Amino acid sequence: MSNSTSHPLDDPAVDPFEVATAAAADIARLSGVEHHDIAVTLGSGWGRAAELIGDETASFPATEVTGFSKPALEGHVGTLRSVRTPGGKNVLVIGARTHYYEGHGVRRVVHSVRTAAATGATTMILTNGAGGIRETWKPGQPVLISDHINLTADSPLEGATFIDLTDLYSKRLRDVARSIDPTLDEGVYTQFRGPHYETPAEVQMAKTIGGHIVGMSTALEAIAARQAGMEILGFSLITNLAAGIQQTPLSHEEVLEAGREAEPVISALLARVIGAL
Ligand code: HPA
Repeated sequence: MSNSTSHPLDDPAVDPFEVATAAAADIARLSGVEHHDIAVTLGSGWGRAAELIGDETASFPATEVTGFSKPALEGHVGTLRSVRTPGGKNVLVIGARTHYYEGHGVRRVVHSVRTAAATGATTMILTNGAGGIRETWKPGQPVLISDHINLTADSPLEGATFIDLTDLYSKRLRDVARSIDPTLDEGVYTQFRGPHYETPAEVQMAKTIGGHIVGMSTALEAIAARQAGMEILGFSLITNLAAGIQQTPLSHEEVLEAGREAEPVISALLARVIGAL
């Protein structure tokens, strides 16, 4: 259904929740799994978790599912998987993220989350690679997201849809994660539009307004997940200290390298947390 000339989510007359329902039906058909319990979006550095969560029931390109766009970024695999945990839960593993900076609109950004909800998932785990503002953090360190500041000036909610965002990143789920790794620190994720990295002045602004993590994803997805009634757990891999906090210039290569190095450890952590849900 999706191609570059016409995309169902680009038509304002189309109901994005109907597109998500159609996508969930595609996933049920392609995976043979009618109902998923948990969904997890794998950001950079988190990709290996899929293998560790449990036994893979099915794996297919996201582009076979209604409304999913081609991955814009190398390192984002563009694969959806259905994995069964040893405890018998079905996990939808989303290795395909549409970023806000791609400029396709917020409906496409949150489609994977709405689809996850339509498959039945009641827990949404959002992971990403991000910059750290806290000087004590080290590249390669995973941290929990405790709250967010959305600097995109956009929202996945359309019309007069007023949704409470208190405890958006569930305290209960953060406690579950800490029962697996008590050393996990947490911080406020600040979503910038990107794709440029922040200036040092912008990082100082984020710090001043209460941010600890800077990145280009997650906040809009979390809002859509809350609208869908899901409980949310957020994890950032600190791939670098944010611009001006670290004294060297940032590079995408550095971010990918930190992700590759941390991948075995953080993927195992994520799989253990999912096992404990
Ligand atoms: N800023 C924004 N996004 C990022 C960063 C950063 O420093 N590192 C990885 N993703």
